[in-house]
Amino acid sequence: MQIVSSATRPAEAQCLVFLVAKDAPVAPPIAASLARDAAATARFGGDAGATLDLYVTEGEALRHLLLVGTGAGTASDMEKAGAAISARLLTSGVAHVAVDGGGHDAQALAHLALGARLRAWRWDAHRTKLSDKQKISLASLTLVSQAEGLAAALTEADALAQGVMFTRELVAEPGNVIYPETFVDRCRPLAELGIELRVLDENDMAALGMGALLGVAQGSVRKPRLLALRWDGSGGKQEKPLCFVGKGVTFDTGGISIKPAAGMEDMKWDMGGAGAVAGVLKALALRKADAHVVGICGLVENMPDGGAQRPGDIVKTMSGQTVEVLNTDAEGRLVLCDAVWWAQETYRPGTLIDLATLTGAMIISLGHEHGGLFSNDDALAERLLAAGSESGDKLWRFPLSDAYDKLLDSPIADMKNIGPRYAGSITAAQFIKRFIQDGVKWAHLDIAGMVWADKPGLTWDKGATGYGVRLLDQLVRSHYQAS
Ligand code: BES
Ligand code: MN
Ligand code: ZN
Repeated sequence: MQIVSSATRPAEAQCLVFLVAKDAPVAPPIAASLARDAAATARFGGDAGATLDLYVTEGEALRHLLLVGTGAGTASDMEKAGAAISARLLTSGVAHVAVDGGGHDAQALAHLALGARLRAWRWDAHRTKLSDKQKISLASLTLVSQAEGLAAALTEADALAQGVMFTRELVAEPGNVIYPETFVDRCRPLAELGIELRVLDENDMAALGMGALLGVAQGSVRKPRLLALRWDGSGGKQEKPLCFVGKGVTFDTGGISIKPAAGMEDMKWDMGGAGAVAGVLKALALRKADAHVVGICGLVENMPDGGAQRPGDIVKTMSGQTVEVLNTDAEGRLVLCDAVWWAQETYRPGTLIDLATLTGAMIISLGHEHGGLFSNDDALAERLLAAGSESGDKLWRFPLSDAYDKLLDSPIADMKNIGPRYAGSITAAQFIKRFIQDGVKWAHLDIAGMVWADKPGLTWDKGATGYGVRLLDQLVRSHYQAS
């Protein structure tokens, strides 16, 4: 969808949106008294995201008016309003909508545009039989406003939206389409934005001693990849980059510790951490963020063929530590331990944040409302919690301690890859912590419940949410960019 601003209402608009704050008088410049009566009858009170359709005449012409509530006018209310416009009009037959910006400032309208764009995203690449009525009709939205700085604010919002939508695309694609090599291929165009790509193949990783990551990959005909995306918008001023590391298991069958059949298709989105990392790098590059950030994606497929690793196998990680693989379905941590070690050895970050759909236990704890946050640094944890509230990608912090760490001790190797039944998300975090070097500020985000939605949300339809992109973009904005 194309989103532009204009000082005057474009003639081609088939639908006119008027924004109404909560409990404010309903008085659009067209058909005001009719609209007021209709709003009262329909109990439309301007709640954020509420809508009311009216068909009225303006002179000889029939006009479709859409009243949209903006609530208290907060950023999230404006996003809800934008999302409501898209949800209502996406397949309505309307191609061009004009939104009267009223007295809203550029920031508020940019949030509305972001909500509209995000809620309009759909992945139709594999649908060849859509009827005309099912096809998206909405092609452009004009914000009728003279708010100062609107064009620039819209450009920023668009960068963020492009990042979120890229993540959703990677997450939505099935395992036969997105596997390690094709994940890398989809990221290659990021080079045109000034992102430096570095790709390690299975031989490179073997030479580096990444026995844990390679152990996961060995049951699949798909070759693993380690992808690094580096954006330096600081022009070399920020020597130590901020590192994001994502779990990119492009399909997780569980391996020999195979998962039950029911619902296994969900494991196409077990690369949601890596997807978020790629998406946020895209957003940062598009908005030319004045920051130095490296995104690393550990890409493997976890399959159970004749070459697959067995429960009980012992693998040696790049760090030199050994792991007894008691459950081949606890593969995410095996991928991450080598990916985070390589990230630290290669880029020497001051701060490293990993994102992973790591444990089913996380969904038991937090459902689909918050991602789980684990950190060795209180200030970093606070920053992430704040970025979560500001961006809407919410987090909730969990504990770490030596007592949990001890649960990973193995009688035959340096550690096991699973703990006992309880506190599964925490022992998974403790496992990764064993690969974090002294002095590195680290946070682990277990986003298992967040990357996929079974029902529509604020700014997404059911399916891939793009969780994590807005969170990390906000974190960079607040703390890691010079200007
Ligand atoms: N990718 C899964 C975690 C997961 C499960 C994410 C369901 C989203 C929905 C992960 O690789 C996994 O299988 N974890 C195991 C760990 C266990 C074997 C210790 C789990 O959570 O059951
Ligand atoms: Mn698994
Ligand atoms: Zn997994």
